[in-house]
This record gives sequence, structure tokens and C-alpha cells, in this order.
Amino acid sequence: MTQRKMRLGAFIMATGHHVAAWRHPGSQIDSGVNIDHYIEVAQTAERGKFDQVFVADSPGVWHQGDDESFSRQGRVSYFEPVTLWAALSVATKHIGFVATASTTYEDPFLLARKFASLDHISKGRAAWNVVTTSAESVYGNFGLDRHPDPELRYEKAHEFLDVVKGLWDSFEDDAFIRNPESGVYFDPDKLHALNHAGKHLKVSGPLNIERPPQGHPVIVQAGSSEPGRELAAATAEAIFTAWTSLEEAQAFYRDVKGRLAKYGRRPEQLLILPGISPVIGRTQEEAEAKWAELQSLIHPSVGLGTIARYWPNEDLSSWDLDAPPPYYPEPPAGRNSRHHVVIELARREKFTVRQLYEYLAGARGHWVVVGTPEKIADEMQAWFENGAADGFNVMPPVLPQSLNEFVDLVIPELQKRGLFRTEYEGRTLRENLGLDRPVNRHTVKAAKAA
Ligand SMILES: Cc1cc2nc3c(=O)[nH]c(=O)nc-3n(C[C@H](O)[C@H](O)[C@H](O)COP(=O)(O)O)c2cc1C
Repeated sequence: MTQRKMRLGAFIMATGHHVAAWRHPGSQIDSGVNIDHYIEVAQTAERGKFDQVFVADSPGVWHQGDDESFSRQGRVSYFEPVTLWAALSVATKHIGFVATASTTYEDPFLLARKFASLDHISKGRAAWNVVTTSAESVYGNFGLDRHPDPELRYEKAHEFLDVVKGLWDSFEDDAFIRNPESGVYFDPDKLHALNHAGKHLKVSGPLNIERPPQGHPVIVQAGSSEPGRELAAATAEAIFTAWTSLEEAQAFYRDVKGRLAKYGRRPEQLLILPGISPVIGRTQEEAEAKWAELQSLIHPSVGLGTIARYWPNEDLSSWDLDAPPPYYPEPPAGRNSRHHVVIELARREKFTVRQLYEYLAGARGHWVVVGTPEKIADEMQAWFENGAADGFNVMPPVLPQSLNEFVDLVIPELQKRGLFRTEYEGRTLRENLGLDRPVNRHTVKAAKAA
């Protein structure tokens, strides 16, 4: 029996995932709009035999604010993902491209067309990270008066996905005859209008591009609330998620895989990929020194911005950073346990203000592993072999530096253990991920009728 292999994605955050990455000498400082940077990063990920590269996105400026820390944010200017990946698909051969796009703010016909084009341009390597958009500040860009509530956003997301998949099936796979002798270009019986009229959307179709090479681009999802999990169970083929302990990740894995049967799906049809942000050193001391260096680059105003919500109505700028907080607030009634956890942690560990914000801001709630390539491989193996992950979304803290280190040092260690591929298995992203190619709904209907 062949050994089960990890799926690996590189989650590309322009200068890197650490909140202060853009200040680090190992980052490309203008990377949000530097195409050469992205070419380098995608080619490095392909050298490491990654399944895919992924960019997050929001249709508006991320991290809006009017305080002093706003000017210190490195993530305010970046490429539109599908445009970016279309360019990179001609600079690579194997790696898949996951682009984020919003079901709340985009148009389904245009989105279906864009992703079908990307799948053709990349010869079957496109994926769509379906988000309902978490940022609350972008609605004004789309003629709305407020950000729709999560229930409504997720309800629309189900319908939106249905419409987009329907549009991708407009042409059957064998619709194009292209016979110069007979003069027949395509078979109109194999082109189908959608004529969708639902609660949120009205779209006639058909789409003006033939079926994508993968049938449908791979569907990815990244929400983990109750409606987020249902959307993933019903429609997603990969799910990105953020946990910091094995137990939490195992519980999520069991929960989501357990929801698939009611949609007539098998567990292997949805890949669960938690994030890991690796800080790599040839020795443990070297790795810890790297992490400390990164943490020291967090400007106090950025750091204080990450803890301010735990001390509402308080001006933190006058606090002594190297002393514990002057007091610990009672968590507001009815609020989630995150407040409790943070305040209890600060109290128990006797953290200074700086230590507390470094702890929270540096990792941004993600799983950070600081250590040697062997230690990082050990942790990944433990999650992979103990029901917590089918693979990982690798989140390099500094780009391009940390991705180079991961490819040069951690990938060979995973390969040596038989946990990761040494060559791409297939031509398309679906083939590499081991996912089925969806059958066209009209072809299924015709086969049933025959
Ligand atoms: C790894 C990861 C990547 C994400 N990327 C995006 C993104 O690019 N754009 C976005 O609006 N939300 C993104 N999200 C947020 C989720 O899509 C979702 O909105 C958020 O988790 C809140 O939804 P929930 O209430 O279902 O958990 C991401 C979440 C995770 C864990």
C-alpha cells in the first residue's frame, strides 16, 4: 500500500505573515505590487513540490483605521488575486493557484467567467477560496449601507456556489467539434442556459467560455463557524483553518468530516488544511533568536492596537511597556471566552504589556512552531497522523526568506519520512490533490435519460 501523503499549500501574504515582516531585511519590502517577487515565490513553492499557492483577499483596504498604527501596516496595497495568478500561471508548470473571491460582493456570472478563464490559462490549476468577506468596512464600495449579517451572507453563499457551478457546466465537455471539413464548430444541443431565479440571485446564462479543464476549479473554504462548517461540508473540497493545539484541530477535523455523509460525500472529498507558521533554524537557539528578532520589530503602537479591545475606553499609550498591565479588566458579560483566555494568560504568566502584545500580535492567532527542520516535521507529522490534518497551509513569517528555508530544509525532511511527494503525480491541481473531476450535470442527465 502506498503511504498517505500530505497536501501542502503556501499561504502567500505579500511580505510574510508576521505582523512586522515588512520591516525585516529578509522580506521584499514592496511585495504587494511587485510581480517579480510573486514569480520568485511561486517558483520556489513549485521547486518544493507544493500543491498550491494561495492569496487571501478583501475587496477594500484591509485594517482601516485612523490611529497612528495605521501608517505602520504593511498590508494596504496588493494585487487582485485572479489577475495575479493568471500572470504566474505562465511562469510555472505544476503548482495550483488558489484565489480568494467574495460571494457577498462579487457578481456570480463575472466570477464564474474569471475563474473558468484562469483554469484554461493555467491548464487546470485554478482554485477558488470562497469567502463571504470578513471585513466589515468594504460595503461602501458596493452601494450597500451595511455589511450583511453572517446568516444572510452564508445563505447567499450556498446559492452563489450553485449558480457558479451551473455556469461552469454551460458547455458539455464534448460540445466543441471544430471540424473545418464539415464547417461545424460546436453542437448547440450541448450548450445549456442556466435560467436561475432564486432568493438572492437571478442569472440566465449560459457562460461564454467552454467548460474548465478541471470541470470545476477546486472549491476551497475558510470559515469555521457553524454556517461556515456547513458550507464547507456541502460544497468545499479543501478547507483552510487556524488552530493552535492538536486537540482543537482534531475536534474540528472530526466535526467537519462527520458532516459530509448527509451531503452524500466521502471523507476524502474534503481536505482539511490547518495553517502552520514555521520559524526555522538549523539549531533551536538559532530559530528562537530569529523569532525574537521578528518580535522586536513590532512597533509599540501596532502591538498596543492588538490588545486595546481587552481594555475598552482606556488610553494604553501612557502605559509602561515593560511592566505588567496596571489592572486586569473583568470580561464583558456574554462575550466569548477569548477575553477570559487572554486576561487569564496575562495574569498567570505575569506578562509585561510588551510580552502580552508580542504574544498576541506576532502569531495573529495562528500556530507558530519555532525550531529545527526536524522539530517542525515532527509537529506536522503528529497532526497528520493523528486525525487533525490532511496537510497544511504553510504560512511563511517572512517572504521570500522563510519559504526558501522551508523548501530547502523542511521539505527534504518530510520527503525522507515518506510524508510528502518527490514528484508531481498529475497535470491538474485536482489530480495532484487526489480529487475527482466533477461530471457535467447535463451529461449526467442525458446519460440517465438514455
Ligand atoms: C486561513 C484562512 C484564510 C482566510 N482568508 C480570508 C480571505 O482571504 N478573505 C476573507 O474575507 N476572509 C478570509 N478568511 C476568513 C473566513 O473566510 C471567514 O470569514 C472567517 O473565518 C469568519 O467566518 P466564520 O464566522 O465562518 O468563521 C480566512 C480564514 C482563514 C482561517
